Amino acid sequence: MSCIFFALFVASLTAVASKQPNIVFIITDDQDVKLDSLSVQPKVQKLLTDEGLFFKNAFVTHPVCCPSRSSTLTGKYTHNHQTYENNVNRGCNAQSWRDRNENKTIGAYMSRAGYTTGFFGKYLNNYALKSSGMNASHVPPGWHKWFGLVGNSRFYHYSVSNDGVEEAHGNDYKKDYFTDVVKRQAIAFIGNVTESGKDSPFFMYVSTPAPHRPATPAPQYNHTFDGRQAPRTPSYHYDGTDKHWIISKGTPHMNNQTVEIVDQLFRQRWETLLSVDDLVEELLATLEKKNLMNNTFIFYNSDHGYHLGQFNQQGEKRQPYDEDIRVPLIVRGPGIAKNQTADTIALNIDLLPTFIDLAGGEIPDDVDGRSLKPILMGQTTKNTVSWRSDFLVEYWGEGNPCMGHMASKEQVFLHDCHNNTFVGIRSLKSGDNTLYAEFFANDSAPVAIDNFNFEEYYDLDKDYWQLHNMIHQVDPNTRTTIRDRLKKFATCSGTSCHI
Ligand SMILES: *[C@@H]1O[C@H](CO)[C@@H](O)[C@H](O)[C@H]1NC(C)=O
Ligand SMILES: *[C@@H]1O[C@H](CO)[C@@H](O)[C@H](O)[C@H]1NC(C)=O
Ligand SMILES: *[C@@H]1O[C@H](CO)[C@@H](O)[C@H](O)[C@H]1NC(C)=O
Ligand SMILES: *[C@@H]1O[C@H](CO)[C@@H](O)[C@H](O)[C@H]1NC(C)=O
Ligand SMILES: *[C@@H]1O[C@H](CO)[C@@H](O)[C@H](O)[C@H]1NC(C)=O
Ligand SMILES: *[C@@H]1O[C@H](CO)[C@@H](O)[C@H](O)[C@H]1NC(C)=O
Ligand SMILES: *[C@@H]1O[C@H](CO)[C@@H](O)[C@H](O)[C@H]1NC(C)=O
Ligand SMILES: *[C@@H]1O[C@H](CO)[C@@H](O)[C@H](O)[C@H]1NC(C)=O
Repeated sequence: MSCIFFALFVASLTAVASKQPNIVFIITDDQDVKLDSLSVQPKVQKLLTDEGLFFKNAFVTHPVCCPSRSSTLTGKYTHNHQTYENNVNRGCNAQSWRDRNENKTIGAYMSRAGYTTGFFGKYLNNYALKSSGMNASHVPPGWHKWFGLVGNSRFYHYSVSNDGVEEAHGNDYKKDYFTDVVKRQAIAFIGNVTESGKDSPFFMYVSTPAPHRPATPAPQYNHTFDGRQAPRTPSYHYDGTDKHWIISKGTPHMNNQTVEIVDQLFRQRWETLLSVDDLVEELLATLEKKNLMNNTFIFYNSDHGYHLGQFNQQGEKRQPYDEDIRVPLIVRGPGIAKNQTADTIALNIDLLPTFIDLAGGEIPDDVDGRSLKPILMGQTTKNTVSWRSDFLVEYWGEGNPCMGHMASKEQVFLHDCHNNTFVGIRSLKSGDNTLYAEFFANDSAPVAIDNFNFEEYYDLDKDYWQLHNMIHQVDPNTRTTIRDRLKKFATCSGTSCHI
């Protein structure tokens, strides 16, 4: 009798545990939403957007890879995780990252919540590079399966750490094309977890190189978009003479050769996204085949946006404008209504607390973001949940002197500089759809908040493309109010970021 009772007791515990949902997080590299890149991914549309919730106002808090990915991994603003730039000296995959943050990332928390975790693809830009003081034998804490790209995004000729063993890849499409390799590894993981006999839920971080430069398309997609041009938005080829220094002074008016270079990059970016579309389809088909769809959440996101010729800045990110800070965010899963959109502001720092919440865990106090679970489950801002209507954007510029690309024979474009450093507030509420940003003389951290040397202000209801810096038309009281709020944001931590 007591044996039967015990068996039932164990069975019911297992049943409770198995209710924790699986989570698949797909993150692309440099994928814009404002310039319409999702329009070339019909499979993402059909399998995710039509079946789930599309966030119309999803943003990142820092528009460049390593700091933004560090925010995604930790749920923190940059001033709290302190990965300020893409290089090791400024925190990217540095010893300080490992000491301060690495055991408080998604992998660490999800494994503690009882999940089997798998990481596939790009981690942080300098992962396993000599400059970062470690090598591919280092598997960050919390990941049961680790398949992490050494260094930054590439499509061929790269190495990965496969559970701590470095593995070199060449340029054979069938064996080496990195988006496809990530796909196959992720699919194999689902097979291994489901066949292991373990009843634990799984968490997967699936991180593609597409559509990052060099944006090398798969052979079958090469030339798919021949003849297409980067979108000629009103800001395209427009001289941003009233903007901060790098744009007003470091950015020449694109000549025809540069225009063609940007168009070529635009086409290749779209072509690489077709392989991501295939990844989504095949991953979901695997989940479907294994009857896992009714207990699995799928998130689709990017580490930041991208601009292509806006204000003459050729292909890059690193600016506070919507092209660079807006990202795709689509979520499908049990309990999420189909084919819905949300206006709610969703941030990269919200992902970690959302995953912990979906897993039934406690969100730690030092996390800056908030769980999106109530939004996913349809509790809108209007009734049960009060939600943010603005957030902090931070950026520390790299390069002293500045970093530039040679775009065409005659033209050099600065793509970053130590004084392309800013903090700003992006607001999105009725009557206030604005960006306010302050710029600083160098990339000292934290920023000396009262010592800004330039300001910008845009009202996106009147000026959707952020053509006109209206700072001199803002009345002094409004300006003081925004600046006070910015000061609070720039030093916030944990719940004090939920202002
Ligand atoms: C999704 O909703 C939109 C209207 O909001 C509708 O036009 C469209 O047909 C729907 N799509 C599907 C696949 O149901
Ligand atoms: C993370 O590691 C640090 C240093 O090793 C340790 O002090 C801290 O307790 C760890 N945190 C957690 C949540 O495991
Ligand atoms: C990689 O790092 C580990 C741990 O620090 C060290 O033991 C090993 O010798 C290193 N391997 C190489 C090839 O440098
Ligand atoms: C794509 O086409 C270009 C030019 O037509 C060629 O140089 C390149 O090797 C092709 N790339 C791939 C990946 O097939
Ligand atoms: C640049 O391209 C434009 C539009 O295609 C054309 O009208 C113009 O003549 C070209 N300029 C030069 C210098 O080739
Ligand atoms: C999901 O579907 C499977 C197979 O169709 C079924 O056995 C299971 O009970 C379902 N789970 C939930 C949570 O609906
Ligand atoms: C920004 O830095 C560059 C390079 O150091 C310098 O030439 C330029 O004058 C600086 N701009 C401002 C506004 O300080
Ligand atoms: C950086 O700029 C700030 C003003 O924003 C100034 O106080 C500080 O001295 C500068 N630091 C360096 C190293 O130039």
